[in-house]
Order: sequence, then C-alpha cells, then structure tokens
Amino acid sequence: MTGHSRGKTTANSRNQRASAARRGWWRGGVIYQAYPRSWSDSNGDGIGDLRGIIDRLDYLEWLGIDGLWLNPLMPSPDHDWGYDVSDYKAIHPAMGTLDDFDELVAQAARRAIRIVFDLVPSHTSDRHAWFLDARSSKSSRYRDYYVWRRPGPRGSLPNNWMNYFGRAAWSFDDGTGEYYMHNFSPHQPQLNWWNAEVREEFDRILNFWLERGIGGVRLDAVQALLYDKQFRDNPPATRADSDKERRIGQRLKYNANHPDVHRIVRRWHSLAAQFDPQRLLLGETWVPSIRQMVKYYGNGTDEFDLTWNLTFLRSPFASRPLRQIIELTLRLLPDDAWAAWAASTHDDEGRATTRWCGGVPATIRCAMLLLLTLRGTPIIYYGDEIGMTEPLLGKMRRALRDEESGRSRDGSRTPMQWKAAPGAGFTSSTQPWLPLGDASVANVETQSADRGSVLWLVRDLLALRRTFDDLAVGELALVSSPAGTLAWHRGKSAFIAVNLGTSMRRIRTSGQILICTDRTRDQEYVAEWLELRSREAVVVRSTSR
Ligand code: NOJ
Repeated sequence: MTGHSRGKTTANSRNQRASAARRGWWRGGVIYQAYPRSWSDSNGDGIGDLRGIIDRLDYLEWLGIDGLWLNPLMPSPDHDWGYDVSDYKAIHPAMGTLDDFDELVAQAARRAIRIVFDLVPSHTSDRHAWFLDARSSKSSRYRDYYVWRRPGPRGSLPNNWMNYFGRAAWSFDDGTGEYYMHNFSPHQPQLNWWNAEVREEFDRILNFWLERGIGGVRLDAVQALLYDKQFRDNPPATRADSDKERRIGQRLKYNANHPDVHRIVRRWHSLAAQFDPQRLLLGETWVPSIRQMVKYYGNGTDEFDLTWNLTFLRSPFASRPLRQIIELTLRLLPDDAWAAWAASTHDDEGRATTRWCGGVPATIRCAMLLLLTLRGTPIIYYGDEIGMTEPLLGKMRRALRDEESGRSRDGSRTPMQWKAAPGAGFTSSTQPWLPLGDASVANVETQSADRGSVLWLVRDLLALRRTFDDLAVGELALVSSPAGTLAWHRGKSAFIAVNLGTSMRRIRTSGQILICTDRTRDQEYVAEWLELRSREAVVVRSTSR
C-alpha cells in the first residue's frame, strides 16, 4: 500500500478519545466487515482464508478502521456458509488453524485493529456432535439441547410455525419419530435456550473466544433464541408486521422474539464485562422496528453495546425516510447507548452500492459520506469502499437460497477486487468459489493511486474522524433542509449536508468544506449559502452554529 500514516491527533482529541475508549473502542470507531471466504485467498484454493486476511492487514490499517468483523470462522458443513457450526471451539479447515487465528488477533492488535468474532448461539449444524447424539435416541445425553415435539394428529406438524427462510420450522426425525425445530434451514436445528446447560455451554464458548484477546463478538440471530413453551400457533401477519412476515403470512411471535431473551443478553453482558479492556457485544437484532431494536440495549449499559439497525439498512435511499429513521433511532436509544449503522450485508439486502445507489458513482459517494458521519459506529461492508457493486450472476450458484425472498445472497458475497488482473488479486486459482465482478471497473490498486477515488474519499473521511472529534463522537442534531436533502450538525462545529434529490439545492451555513464528494470542492469557503448539486454531499467545519 501507499506509505501514508494515520492522521495526527491533538492532545485534546487524544483525551476525548481516551475517555471514549474507556467506554468501549467502538465509540467513535469504525468497523469493517469482511466476508472471509471472499476477501483474500492465500493458498490458491479459490476460498479466502485467515492467512490471506493477515497478509492484507496493512490495507486495513491504511484505510483507518478500528474493528474487523469476520463472518463465522468455525468448522461447518457450510449449508449456510459457517452459520451452521459443527464445532464452536475450532477454526474451519478452509480458513486455517487456531494458531492462524491467534496470529491474526495479535497482528491486528499491532495495528490497533480489534477482531470481532461472529458467534451463532441460536442453532448448531445438524452435524454438530450434540445434535448427532440428540437424534440418536429420545433418552440421549444431549436430547434436551434441542427442541423436539411429537407429531400432531395423523403425523401433522406440531404447530404452524414457519422459519425465517419461509418454510415450516419443523423437520421430522425418522430415527426417534419426533419433529425438531429450526428457525432457519433444517440443517440448523434450534438450540433449546430454556435449558440451563445450553446457557452454560455458551458461557464457556464465549469465554473461549474472548480470552483470545478479540475486540468483541457479533451474536447471530439473537431474537430467535427462545420459543414459546406452550408452542402456541403464530397469529396471522397484519399490516403492522414486517414485509417478511407478511409474505410468510404469520407474525413470528412464538418461535422467536420472546421477551426473556433479554435475560440471556444481560447474562452475556455480565460475562463480557469481566474483560479488560471492554469487549464489544454486537447483537444481530433482526427485528422489524426501531422500537423493538432499542430494547436490546436494555437500560443502555446492561445488554448489547451495539445492535443491528435493520430499519436503516432496509430504508429507501431517500431523504425523508432516512431522516425519520435517523431521528427515531437516536431519540429512542436509551441514555448512554450508542448506535450502529450498516448499509450493506452478506444477506438478502445485499450491497448498498447496488440497492441504494444503482451503481451510480456520485450516489455511492453520498452513501459512504452519510454512513461515516452519522452518530454511532459505522459498519463498512468490504468492497463498498471501492464502490464494488453486485455483478449479475445469472443464476443462483452457491448461496443458501432465502426461500422466502427468493433472492440469492451470492451477489453481495463475490470476491474482493484488489486489482484488475485474473483472479482480481483475490486468488491465484482460476476457480474462485464465487464468480468475480468486473475488477477493471473497481479495484483497490487503481483507486489507491487516485486521490479522487471513492477509496480515498472513504479513507479521508476515516482520517477526518480521527482528528475531528465532533465528527466521531459529537451529538447529532438534524436541521430542516430543502426537499431531497438531509442536513445535520455534529457537536459544536461539524455540519453535514447530503443532496439526494435531482436538482441543485441551497442550504444555509457558513464555514469551510473539509470533504466534499466532489473532491475539487474540498477547502472551499462557504459564506452563507452552500450550493449542493444533485448527488453531492459535504462535511463542513461550520462557523454558524
Ligand atoms: C443471520 C446471518 O447473517 C445469516 O447469514 C444466516 O443465514 C442467519 N443469521 C442464520 O444463522
């Protein structure tokens, strides 16, 4: 990489940083999500791996991120690419070894990057030793680690529960003549979190990884941990329910979203609180409303440190809905809680560069600037920093298909584009596990040599956050602005404006543009009226607040 060092910090900003850090490294920090199978392949088998990640840490340091979230790394038969875990205390052979993992943690720490480990508590793989034992007999040692029910009349399903993939949440086990429950695929049997032994197993698993010096964990599908002990039928979906539930036809009320799940989150919080420095607990709170999401912060200090804002992720990229979502999120957060913002995922929602921006470079720049200037921890999805879009893959290839949405997840999981060369710098294999996008359109090598690139925009925004505390940790106050635009203050002197409309807009402010999506406007002085062209966004050091 180019030899640029991180931005210089003032003593004052170091103090503010230090106090923010005492409350968690993610406050004011930025997380980068890399999908490990697709990020960097060191051994030429077409699959990304841990050594590949170690080899590329200099890039992440150059970019200026604080945390690196990696999707599950544990052994798995890969029916759901690692989200079906067959051993919670080991590393998937395709990814490397536990030693590689420890080296990754240490090498990342040298660069002030914390590893965020993805843990899947709600279900195991059907190949996990617990489940193999559980299905061996009704009286087996691990039977009650899972959720079993006798068939209904004439062998029917125990009740009407559907899973998140839009199919029945029950599969019949011929050997023992009962149904087992699964909130995802039949290869992902649901763990029985009412069982104290399951809770204790996970305390040990959590400790096992936290003790390795990671920066924290991302906990998968936490809303799906507990089920209704009376196995009541789910009610029909209404207009108030999520689009997913409306399509499935029922509200996932009794197989998920049980209120006692918060007790489990508090248990994890107490466990993580014993570590110094503080470890991040990031909850994948896949719930349809902000009101439900904020409950996972508990009183603001006793549940998750960060939660998954599905409503933001699924918002149209338009000023009015975004404004409402940002305002509501920050208003409903308990005191002391800290938001997280992600625009892209490895799941159905896919890449914001495609879904929000239609691949239009100016719009992609606005999306990145918006994401990196909200109050909270931004989560950058790998490749978004170079404006990588989802290639048209023709037909579904490798991903587990979301039966309910019918959408393949492959598009957002294609290999990282490092350079315009065969294998895109991702692999030396001629057969990457997923097809490559067009690396000649977007790649790290070309963009790192071009100060006007989206990669440099992202890097410069991250550098600015490090030296300009208002931007990293300052309060956010939305201000009224013309149709199609969004504008807000951060702290005393940061002002952000984004024009997502189709025509030029004038916004009242004064100060100096620090970063504009059109980099030729950096340093421009604004006396009273900021003129923003369509699909243009700025960070201003304002003198008018
Ligand atoms: C959420 C993960 O992001 C997704 O990829 C997975 O399929 C489900 N949880 C089930 O683990």
